[in-house]
Amino acid sequence: MIRSGTPVDAEAIQAIYAPVVRETMVSFETEVPSEQELRRRVSRSHEWLVYERSGQVIGYAYAAPFHERAGYKWSVEVSIYLGAEARGSGLGRELLGALIERLTHRGFVNAFAGIALPNPVSVRLFESAGFEQVAEHRNVGFKLGGWHNVGWWQRQINSPTDPPPELI
Ligand SMILES: CC(C)(COP(=O)(O)OP(=O)(O)OC[C@H]1O[C@@H](n2cnc3c(N)ncnc32)[C@H](O)[C@@H]1OP(=O)(O)O)[C@@H](O)C(=O)NCCC(=O)NCCS
Repeated sequence: MIRSGTPVDAEAIQAIYAPVVRETMVSFETEVPSEQELRRRVSRSHEWLVYERSGQVIGYAYAAPFHERAGYKWSVEVSIYLGAEARGSGLGRELLGALIERLTHRGFVNAFAGIALPNPVSVRLFESAGFEQVAEHRNVGFKLGGWHNVGWWQRQINSPTDPPPELI
């Protein structure tokens, strides 16, 4: 079941995110955020969806502002994380699809994903979902003894009309 996340999900979100922070360069965070900080992130996101199975949150996807300045308000940055046992069986595609559908309905124009490279599964996920690569920042993040490029993928989810679409 896919549902909206709430601050109560912070503990489950932390359990999924902590190994990513500690063991990988998928995220350039180096300290696992506290549950309190994750509650704050859930509340401040544009959308936060969780994938729940048998009462347990096994993955999540969210959209955060791409940039804070007013003119960027129709652009979002999306992120998605599944617990290790939940990967590779189509849940990511399902969850990302649900997030994009929701964002489209609300009137956002662009969704961006920043992917620390290499991450072939994530690249495949976003390209399958209609995202195209638009940029690559070279050696922009250092973690776990190495510098990494971050590629940026973009999908236009609503037409960039003048005036811009009204956000719901
Ligand atoms: C990236 C992630 C969200 C993808 O979700 P997933 O459920 O594992 O992926 P899916 O099963 O939906 O597959 C998505 C695509 O990748 C492909 N894929 C999945 N696992 C793969 C693997 N191990 N190797 C190659 N391709 C793979 C699928 O075939 C599918 O492509 P298709 O639509 O063309 O058939 C998930 O693996 C994850 O949480 N990884 C760790 C965190 C992470 O990297 N997050 C992204 C940060 S940018």
